[in-house]
Amino acid sequence: KRKGAMAALFTARRGLGACLSGRRRLSQLAELPETHQLLRQTCRDFADRELIPIAGKLDKEHAYPAKQIQDLGAMGVMAIEVPEELGGAGMDYLAYSLAMEEISRGCASTGVVVSVNNSLYIGPILKNGTEEQKKKWITPFTTGEKVGCFCLSEPGNGSDAGAASTTAREDGGEWVLSGTKAWITNSWDASAAVVFATTDRTLKHKGISAFLVPMPHPGLSLGKKEDKLGIRASSTANVILEDCRLPLDHMLGPRGAGFKIAMQTLDSGRIGVASQALGIAQASLECAADYAHKRTAFGAPIGKLQAIQFKLADMSVAVESARLLTWKASLLRDAGKPFTKEAAMAKLSASEAATFCSHQAIQVLGGMGYVSDMPAERHYRDARITEIYEGTSEIQRLVIGGQVLKEYQS
Ligand SMILES: Cc1cc2nc3c(=O)[nH]c(=O)nc-3n(C[C@H](O)[C@H](O)[C@H](O)COP(=O)(O)OP(=O)(O)OC[C@H]3O[C@@H](n4cnc5c(N)ncnc54)[C@H](O)[C@@H]3O)c2cc1C
Ligand SMILES: *[C@@H]1O[C@H](CO)[C@@H](O)[C@H](O)[C@H]1NC(C)=O
Ligand SMILES: *[C@@H]1O[C@H](CO)[C@@H](O)[C@H](O)[C@H]1NC(C)=O
Ligand SMILES: *[C@@H]1O[C@H](CO)[C@@H](O)[C@H](O)[C@H]1NC(C)=O
Repeated sequence: KRKGAMAALFTARRGLGACLSGRRRLSQLAELPETHQLLRQTCRDFADRELIPIAGKLDKEHAYPAKQIQDLGAMGVMAIEVPEELGGAGMDYLAYSLAMEEISRGCASTGVVVSVNNSLYIGPILKNGTEEQKKKWITPFTTGEKVGCFCLSEPGNGSDAGAASTTAREDGGEWVLSGTKAWITNSWDASAAVVFATTDRTLKHKGISAFLVPMPHPGLSLGKKEDKLGIRASSTANVILEDCRLPLDHMLGPRGAGFKIAMQTLDSGRIGVASQALGIAQASLECAADYAHKRTAFGAPIGKLQAIQFKLADMSVAVESARLLTWKASLLRDAGKPFTKEAAMAKLSASEAATFCSHQAIQVLGGMGYVSDMPAERHYRDARITEIYEGTSEIQRLVIGGQVLKEYQS
């Protein structure tokens, strides 16, 4: 059933057990373990073969990449951190980061679908679900056709997620959820959602709890698909809950732990967004460097011009430094160490690298940068969201600043 690239990936996964048992070292920032190199190459080949040729069309048609997501599911990339006994790939976060970058290099919309299933849907269930919940909400999805979504933001509060006002009340041995969740990625394509709702408004963020909701479900409906600047092949819409009834065992984690679960989920998720941004930045750099060789002006390739070389140099420095921060955050997480600050740094620097590099790539391409015959304009549009979701750049700076002040407390 699994052939070619997929077979290679499965070999990589088998070898991973050994390397996971050893302690992660920061020297891996210089040279990746062989297993990770193989995974990276496999995903890169998949992007070259299956994503790059269709990414422009998916973007134009707002078409969900169903077949590609299914193939990635068969490769294990849609449930990377899930242990093999629960139907996942049993790999680590560094592996996830590498895969996310390569896939997003091919198609950033496909990247966000991958990231939401991995970090935002599976993440909190794997960490904070009971054994029964893990079996029920992770394992049965293994056909590879289903994806999950994460419902935290509301129309009236995004950055200030603790102000979320969707309610959950107990009634007749069931939870009843009411409220509107906004901007929900994957919502139109999802088979389940992790939803945050308050069980006690007077407690503010400490009253928020997390719930597992099957989709479709009575009392749950979807708003229109948002018409977005970028990542247009992924769906984004409101999720509307009107007396949506759930059995009591659909609460995830303890009552009142929802806000904490959401923040911990986003800490990890930011590594995924950083990797998505790296993929967009890398694709922009490759597009610009290739064009610099081929395009001539004033009788020579534009790559001979120092003005163009400097752009390529700055782009390359931005990508490589953000990549090291992203790998460092992954390695810390894999080693069980605190990584909140590093994940925020990775997300901030990689998303700014993506907007910078995609901007510069258009400049290197001149007029060809501005039309959809070349991918540069799509990278420019796709890059922008990475500075907004899973915490805006301003919120990342707040997180980093807070951590720095803590470190330097006398
Ligand atoms: C395409 C897309 C997909 C998304 N996917 C999801 C999803 O799957 N699930 C989900 O739950 N959410 C999702 N979101 C929501 C996203 O996380 C929020 O849009 C984001 O957190 C910002 O919230 P907001 O839009 O309410 O902006 P606001 O919070 O209103 O922010 C407006 C501006 O004020 C700034 N600001 C706010 N507070 C502060 C502060 N304390 N200090 C400094 N500056 C501040 C912000 O940085 C920003 O510049 C998605 C959004 C988009 C656009
Ligand atoms: C998304 O994650 C679930 C939960 O682990 C998994 O079962 C499913 O196969 C993933 N989706 C795809 C399309 O692979
Ligand atoms: C969620 O699970 C993680 C890991 O098991 C744990 O560190 C964390 O405290 C849990 N969060 C809550 C809010 O219970
Ligand atoms: C959060 O947003 C909702 C609308 O989406 C609004 O009803 C609610 O009052 C807001 N919460 C706070 C504390 O402002």
